[in-house]
Amino acid sequence: MCGIVGYTGTKPAVPILVSGLKRLEYRGYDSAGLAVETDGGILVEKEKGKVSELVNLLNGHDENAPIHASTTGIAHTRWATHGTPTQENAHPHASKKIALVHNGIIENYKSLKTKLIGEGYIFLSQTDTEVLAHLVDSFYDGDLLQAVTTALKNVEGTYGIACMAQDEPGVLIVARRGSPIVLGVGENETIVASDASAIIKHTRQAIYLDDNDIAKICGGEIDIRTLDSGTVSREASEIDWSPDAAEKGGYEHYMLKEIYEQPDAIRNTIRGRMNTELGTAMLGGLNLSPREVVDIQRLVIVGCGTSLNAGIVGEFATEDFAGLAAEVEQAAEFRYRNPIINSRDLVLAISQSGETADTLAAVREATQKGALVAGLVNVVGSTIARETGRGVYLHAGPEISVASTKAFTCQVATLLMVALKFARSRRMSVEQGRQFVKEIDSLPDLVNQVLAKDKEIAAVAERYVQYEKMFFIGRGYLYPVAKEGALKLKEISYIHAEAYHAAELKHGPIALLEKAMPVVALALEGPGKEKTIGNIKECSARDARVLGIITEGDEEAKSEVDDYIEIPKCRLHAAVVPATVALQLFAYHVARLRGCPIDQPRNLAKSVTVE
Ligand code: AGP
Ligand code: GLU
Repeated sequence: MCGIVGYTGTKPAVPILVSGLKRLEYRGYDSAGLAVETDGGILVEKEKGKVSELVNLLNGHDENAPIHASTTGIAHTRWATHGTPTQENAHPHASKKIALVHNGIIENYKSLKTKLIGEGYIFLSQTDTEVLAHLVDSFYDGDLLQAVTTALKNVEGTYGIACMAQDEPGVLIVARRGSPIVLGVGENETIVASDASAIIKHTRQAIYLDDNDIAKICGGEIDIRTLDSGTVSREASEIDWSPDAAEKGGYEHYMLKEIYEQPDAIRNTIRGRMNTELGTAMLGGLNLSPREVVDIQRLVIVGCGTSLNAGIVGEFATEDFAGLAAEVEQAAEFRYRNPIINSRDLVLAISQSGETADTLAAVREATQKGALVAGLVNVVGSTIARETGRGVYLHAGPEISVASTKAFTCQVATLLMVALKFARSRRMSVEQGRQFVKEIDSLPDLVNQVLAKDKEIAAVAERYVQYEKMFFIGRGYLYPVAKEGALKLKEISYIHAEAYHAAELKHGPIALLEKAMPVVALALEGPGKEKTIGNIKECSARDARVLGIITEGDEEAKSEVDDYIEIPKCRLHAAVVPATVALQLFAYHVARLRGCPIDQPRNLAKSVTVE
C-alpha cells in the first residue's frame, strides 16, 4: 500500500507534506494529493500521476495565497486498490467538514456505501476510502476523535489513516490497523507518516502506533488511545536508519524488503476471498456465475517471465484438482501463432505490472477470437486490468525491485484459489475443499518458516558465489520452481543459470555437467521425489556439486546432496511457495556476495512495455 504524510505545528505545512510524499514515492503510486487548513476551511488539492504533477498544481497558487501559511495538513500518494488512478479517486477524500487519507482496504465498503447513500451522501469516487470519509462525517458532532473512533469500529479490513476537521484547527486524528502509521515527535510539532523515511529529515524520535491505536495530535501534543479503551502510553524510539536506507524500511535492497513482505502480501491476496464453510474461493472479480464456471471447458494461461512460471503452477493445479483442461503459453508465442481458441475458453493473463506488451497483445488476440478473458494483475487500473474488465487483483502492494518476488508467490496463491473454484464446481467435495482452503491459509506461515532460515541460506549461498553456470532441476509442481529459481539467480547475479525438467537432463544437457557446474535439485517429499533422487545421483556421478531443496528432516535426501535447504513439510502444490522463497533468498545472497546492484540489474526494466 502507499504513502501518508501529516503535519501539525508552527511551520508552513505544504513544503513538509510535499517533501514527505517525495520520500515515499519509491513505493510506487498513481496519484497524489494534500489537504491543509486555510481561512477556517480545508483546501484539498490532488492530481493523477506523479508527485511532480501535484507540485505543478500547487505552483498555480499565488505565493501569498493562504495555502502557504497553513501549518496543519495531510497528504497521500495512492497505490490504487479500488477504483482506477484518476484525480477523483486520488486522496484526500472530503466529506462536508472533514478530509481523510487512507492506506489499506476497507473490506465492507460496499455495505457501508449503500447505508451512506441511503443517508443522503453523494459519492464522487469509486474508492473504498471515500466511504470512510463519509462514515466519519456521519458520526461527527464536533468531536473528531470520537467520530473517527466510532467509524472505525464499523470498519472491516485494514487501514492507516490521517484525518482533519475544519472546526478543530491544528488537530490531526490518526489510526492504524494492518497498515503502519508512525509519529515523528518534534518541538511543538508532529510529523505523521506511513513510513519513517518521510520523518527522518525532521526528527529521529518516532512513536509507532500499534493495531487498533488511535491518536489525537495538535502541535507537539500527542494523546494515544485504543479504539476500545482510554489513553495508552507508547514510548518513542530512535530511528537509526540513514535517510536512504529508511526508504527501504531499513532493508539493504527493495528486493529483500519485498521477499520479507511476502507473508503479509499473501494475506492481502487471500483476504476475503475464501469461504471456509463451502470450502471454495469466491473471486467475485472474475464475474462468473457458478453456471458459467461449470461451462468453461479450458483454461488458457498467458504471461511472461516470472508470471509465466507462476502460470505453470496454475496449469498443473487446475488439471490436478479441477479436472479441467489447462495450458500455459508464453504470451509472445500465443499472440503470433494463431492459436485455436473458442468461446468456452477462459484466457487468464498474468501480469504484475498489467502493462507487459506481449501479454497485453495476447489479451487482445484472445478477445478477438471470442474467448472469455480475465486478468491476474497487481497494479489496479493498469491496461491489462482495464482491457480484460474482469479478473483478480493481487493486492500485493507495490513491487519496486525489478526481480519479481512477492508477485510470484501471490500469483501462485491466486492460481490455487482459481483451481479451487473450478474444482469445487466439479468433483471436489466440500471436505476436500476445506482442506485446500486450510493449505492456502497456511502459505504465510510456511513463508515465515523459510524466512527464519535466512542466515542459514546466506551461508549456503557463500559456497556457490564463485560459479559462473548452474542447473536447476525439478519435476511436477517443482519444475516451475526450478524455472523461477534459475530466473532469479540469472537476473540479479548474472550467473548463467538454466532450469530443466529433472527427467530432461539425460536427454542432452547432462553433457554439460562437470565440477564447475553445480546443480540445484528440488527434491521435496511427494510424487516424483525418488526419480529426482535418481537424477541427483546422475549429477553427483559426474562430479557436479548438488544443492538439495528438501523436506525438513528428510535424512535420505540429505545423504544424497552436498548442501541442502530444508522446507516445511506440506503437499507439493503448496510447497511451491516456501521452496521459491528459499531460492529467492539464495539468489539474493549470491548476488549480494558478488557485489551486484540487485534492485536495478543491468539490461532489465521493471515493466517490459515493448515487444
Ligand atoms: C521477473 O523477475 C522479471 N522482472 C520479469 O520476468 C517479469 O516477471 C516479466 O517481465 C513479466 O512482468 P509482468 O508480470 O509485469 O507482466
Ligand atoms: N484502498 C484505497 C484506494 O484504493 C487506498 C489504497 C492505498 O493504500 O494507496 O484508494
